[in-house]
Amino acid sequence: MARMRRTEYFKVILSCLVVFWFICFQGLHAADTLTVGQTMRDWEFLESPNKLFRLQFCGLGVSYGRYLGIQYMNDRLVPAKFVWVANSRIPLADTSGTLNITVDGNLVLTDSNGTFITISVGQPAPSSNISATLLDSGNLVLRSGERQPQYRLLTSFASQRLATPGTFIFGVDPNNTKQLVIWQRGVLYWRSGIWNGYNFNYFPYSKFDFSYFSNESDSYFTYTINDNNLSSWIEMGSSGNIRIVEMTSDGLLSFTDTHCGVTDKLEYGTAAGCAVIETSNCKSGDVFDQTRGEMNSWNFLNNFSLGIADCKEICRRNCSCNAYGSASSNGSGCKFSDGQKLNFSEEAFYIRNGSVVATGKPYSH
Ligand SMILES: *[C@@H]1O[C@H](CO)[C@@H](O)[C@H](O)[C@H]1NC(C)=O
Ligand SMILES: *[C@@H]1O[C@H](CO)[C@@H](O)[C@H](O)[C@H]1NC(C)=O
Ligand SMILES: *[C@@H]1O[C@H](CO)[C@@H](O)[C@H](O)[C@H]1NC(C)=O
Ligand SMILES: *[C@@H]1O[C@H](CO)[C@@H](O)[C@H](O)[C@H]1NC(C)=O
Ligand SMILES: *[C@@H]1O[C@H](CO)[C@@H](O)[C@H](O)[C@H]1NC(C)=O
Ligand SMILES: *[C@@H]1O[C@H](CO)[C@@H](O)[C@H](O)[C@H]1NC(C)=O
Ligand SMILES: *[C@@H]1O[C@H](CO)[C@@H](O)[C@H](O)[C@H]1NC(C)=O
Ligand SMILES: *[C@@H]1O[C@H](CO)[C@@H](O)[C@H](O)[C@H]1NC(C)=O
Ligand SMILES: *[C@@H]1O[C@H](CO)[C@@H](O)[C@H](O)[C@H]1NC(C)=O
Ligand SMILES: *[C@@H]1O[C@H](CO)[C@@H](O)[C@H](O)[C@H]1NC(C)=O
Ligand SMILES: *[C@@H]1O[C@H](CO)[C@@H](O)[C@H](O)[C@H]1NC(C)=O
Repeated sequence: MARMRRTEYFKVILSCLVVFWFICFQGLHAADTLTVGQTMRDWEFLESPNKLFRLQFCGLGVSYGRYLGIQYMNDRLVPAKFVWVANSRIPLADTSGTLNITVDGNLVLTDSNGTFITISVGQPAPSSNISATLLDSGNLVLRSGERQPQYRLLTSFASQRLATPGTFIFGVDPNNTKQLVIWQRGVLYWRSGIWNGYNFNYFPYSKFDFSYFSNESDSYFTYTINDNNLSSWIEMGSSGNIRIVEMTSDGLLSFTDTHCGVTDKLEYGTAAGCAVIETSNCKSGDVFDQTRGEMNSWNFLNNFSLGIADCKEICRRNCSCNAYGSASSNGSGCKFSDGQKLNFSEEAFYIRNGSVVATGKPYSH
């Protein structure tokens, strides 16, 4: 009964949010470490020592292939939450996938076609003592003797329906200014403000205490949650939003989004820390509204690496572009129009609204 009600809650609250229905089989437990010579097959998994995370194969929806990913294990979290997907660009066609570590230190996915996907490149020096261990922090660590500096970034999914790498990257400022940064295709999009010893000015979530660590080879932030009654984590959505998710002990979820772009009626600069955008100088302005209907003509750009935020940028900079939308039902590719809006369809797309002036609250240093 409680479970039913929880499902209903998800339906209402998550109706348009980024949650993938990963379908995983009940697999065979294979400890926390994979060593050279061992193989992890589709129905097996690695589990962190305190069972907080699993590395396993899952499907995404019905017909999108198999993905290898790290899943946050929490009974209250339905559907499963993936913190990392290894082969997001190249889903495997079937359940014949295996994971190996080669003697030269590469973690390799192989499928029935014999296709090799190198997930992580380890040390070049050959060694028979290489292992991959899943930690309770959710990180998969490849151990092969000497460590090298690591640069970890979060890349958004291309759309709510595609786990392929998308438009936005979230990471630590490489200039060592002790702040978190989002880039849109290499262009600065959002900054958290500089770490003040426990938090960031433009990341005002008081339940996280951030710590900064830095030595010769590593620099990173960690955070702890200072409310024992909650589980909480950070996600990046496909439209560049940072989302704080809170989950109570009853499994109820709530969200707080930090968002810079104009999607779903949000204007530029709604969130503090948003970078100044270069205005298009188009007479009809830079603001687009979501609408339904149809345009009398569309030009398609069938580059399926592009997400909806890329489509907006392309249209915004082209003053004859009145409207944009996704080229495909999986949310990738673009279509643009310089035409008129017609009525006869219920399809969602975005249309330029000349009566609204973009008002940025630019980040100033
Ligand atoms: C993975 O291991 C299996 C079984 O040991 C082996 O047949 C396969 O060739 C290995 N794949 C790679 C890429 O080393
Ligand atoms: C792998 O095999 C599947 C069907 O068995 C096929 O559809 C797919 O194109 C193959 N992939 C490659 C890269 O050969
Ligand atoms: C392999 O590595 C483990 C831990 O990384 C270490 O305890 C062990 O002694 C190593 N074995 C060899 C043969 O180097
Ligand atoms: C880091 O420095 C480069 C070069 O000065 C600059 O272009 C970039 O915007 C800086 N990054 C941030 C996040 O400020
Ligand atoms: C830096 O710190 C990490 C722990 O986060 C440690 O494993 C690594 O050895 C340190 N590097 C150096 C050069 O001291
Ligand atoms: C956590 O839950 C306990 C028991 O339900 C309650 O007494 C306490 O006030 C809660 N703490 C916070 C910070 O909400
Ligand atoms: C497709 O878009 C991506 C992302 O902007 C770009 O890197 C790539 O070059 C484009 N491909 C083609 C064929 O234009
Ligand atoms: C998304 O849809 C387009 C057009 O239907 C298709 O070409 C592309 O392969 C799809 N992408 C994925 C990952 O399914
Ligand atoms: C601008 O958009 C219009 C309408 O989609 C298109 O016909 C035109 O080719 C675009 N111009 C450029 C330079 O991309
Ligand atoms: C579009 O639909 C509205 C409401 O149904 C109607 O009033 C309007 O005349 C229609 N416009 C066109 C161009 O068909
Ligand atoms: C444009 O924005 C204004 C102000 O928010 C709104 O009143 C108007 O309905 C919008 N026009 C369209 C076509 O969405």
